[in-house]
Amino acid sequence: MTSSEGPWRATILTLFPDMFPGPLGVSLAGKALASGLWALESRDIRASATDRHRSVDDTPAGGGPGMVLRADVLAAAIDAADAGPSGPKDRPRLLMSPRGRPLTQSRVIELAAGPGPLIVCGRFEGIDERVIAARGLEEVSIGDYVLSGGEVAAMVLVDACVRLLPGVMGRLASGTEESFSEGLLEYPQYTRPQEFEGRTIPEILTSGDHAKVAAWRQAEAEALTRARRPDLWAIKARQKRPKSTTDG
Ligand code: ADE
Repeated sequence: MTSSEGPWRATILTLFPDMFPGPLGVSLAGKALASGLWALESRDIRASATDRHRSVDDTPAGGGPGMVLRADVLAAAIDAADAGPSGPKDRPRLLMSPRGRPLTQSRVIELAAGPGPLIVCGRFEGIDERVIAARGLEEVSIGDYVLSGGEVAAMVLVDACVRLLPGVMGRLASGTEESFSEGLLEYPQYTRPQEFEGRTIPEILTSGDHAKVAAWRQAEAEALTRARRPDLWAIKARQKRPKSTTDG
């Protein structure tokens, strides 16, 4: 969304601000960033530390390994970002964490349609639980594996949003045939040469019969989804099922 406050904006709170824009500075997202279709603000959490040593973390209450990001320091960093040029205070505030709700394309679509999120990147063993409630952070995971910090996860989320912004994808803008938007994985694609190491392009794709091509692609997408993502396929099957008289 291009609001009165300017373009869609991602504000990143991190202990490693130099990691940004990183991959978001090249290719599609990078070109869009350079042309002002979106904005990126990378803020150093450490700038909100108050003690002499600029410490941001401390040992976990109750003992155990690792360090925990302090609630007071992170809250101050969030408040400073809110007061800064990052726009309205009602932006979504996300915390990248393996403990969060899994990121989905539908959440990405919602985030892309808004003013753009403020994203806290976790590090260490975690962050003090109290700041999550005190600043209304929505925990988001990008998958069931553990990264060394939230920065790469934040890049994934921002990349997924940016490609949906008006003007970013150009001719490819619709995106309607892509994986997940229809609840199906994408059908296989081919291009020249006609034969590659003895493997040819399925004949139907070069037949010129658009209806047959569409039917073939649909069948391939369904077969792939069924084989690789039974979870997605089950949702699809439920949607297709005719409404029974007991459904209300
Ligand atoms: N930080 C560490 N692992 C993560 C994950 N899987 N998703 C989001 N943030 C993370």
